[in-house]
Amino acid sequence: MWGENHSLVSEIVLMGFASSQEICVVLFLVFSMFYVAGILGNFLVVVTVISDPHLHSPMYFLLANLSFIDMWVSSITVPKMVSDLLKERKVISLQGCITQMFFIHVSGGTEMVLLIVMAYDRYIAICKPLHYLTIMNPRTCILLLVVTWTIGIMHSLIQIAFVANLQFCGHREVDSFYCDLPRFIKLACTVTYKLDLMVTVNSGLISLGTFITLMISYALMLVTVWQHSSGGSSKALSTLSAHITVVVLFFGPCIFVYSWPFLTVPVDKFLAIFDVIITPFLNPVIYTFRNKEMKAAMRRTFSQMPSSQNLF
Ligand SMILES: *[C@@H]1O[C@H](CO)[C@@H](O)[C@H](O)[C@H]1NC(C)=O
Repeated sequence: MWGENHSLVSEIVLMGFASSQEICVVLFLVFSMFYVAGILGNFLVVVTVISDPHLHSPMYFLLANLSFIDMWVSSITVPKMVSDLLKERKVISLQGCITQMFFIHVSGGTEMVLLIVMAYDRYIAICKPLHYLTIMNPRTCILLLVVTWTIGIMHSLIQIAFVANLQFCGHREVDSFYCDLPRFIKLACTVTYKLDLMVTVNSGLISLGTFITLMISYALMLVTVWQHSSGGSSKALSTLSAHITVVVLFFGPCIFVYSWPFLTVPVDKFLAIFDVIITPFLNPVIYTFRNKEMKAAMRRTFSQMPSSQNLF
């Protein structure tokens, strides 16, 4: 019986980046820097929006919620990945792996729905400006956020339920730096095409469908802005272009990683870096450095602190 019961795989080996020691040290430094900068930037956005009454509007609250989720998105994978870069043996327990996949999909799914809510918010602001404050009242905002998190959790639970009891056949190497469904499924003993299909539908088609819907909505909003104003629309245009940039950055890698069933190409793991490190870092940069109100609010918030008078 020894060695026969292969389903007792309890550890998974993450192959990570198969590179030289020097390259790993460089990547360690670069990724750590982006990670810390992303966390600080997003934290700054949350603190500024919550503490500045000028920013107490649905748009900025949603922005702060996006920053809050971004901190989670990167913290679920990056610290482990970064510390693995310096280790010879990169392993994760089976439970750890499933937990990681669960939280990746909760935060990713929630962020996806939140981007839809943010587009809806801009749609109301641009196409029904007179009713904006009645439609996007605080109660509706909270309700939308509850729905957002519920969908994110359901999306993740459904997928994890399919893979939590898989049998493994001793093969336990994942060619990535964190656990995710497409590669995890490949470790199972059974024929996995149904599971592949489930992931493609649940993560791939949903990202693709959402992305197309969002792009069409933003195109309609841009047309509306162009038609209804001459010159005074630059603020709306800059907000919309910031939103569109974030949507493309977030959905691009997702669609690539999840939409091709049965196929996991090496480039996947580099694209994933985009979603867990680069996007969470860029979101606050895109929204704050291009947004006058946000910059002014940060100046106000931090000029109240005596030691930071010279920062801005
Ligand atoms: C998220 O949005 C809600 C309601 O719009 C707001 O009350 C809350 O402070 C926001 N959360 C964060 C972390 O910014």
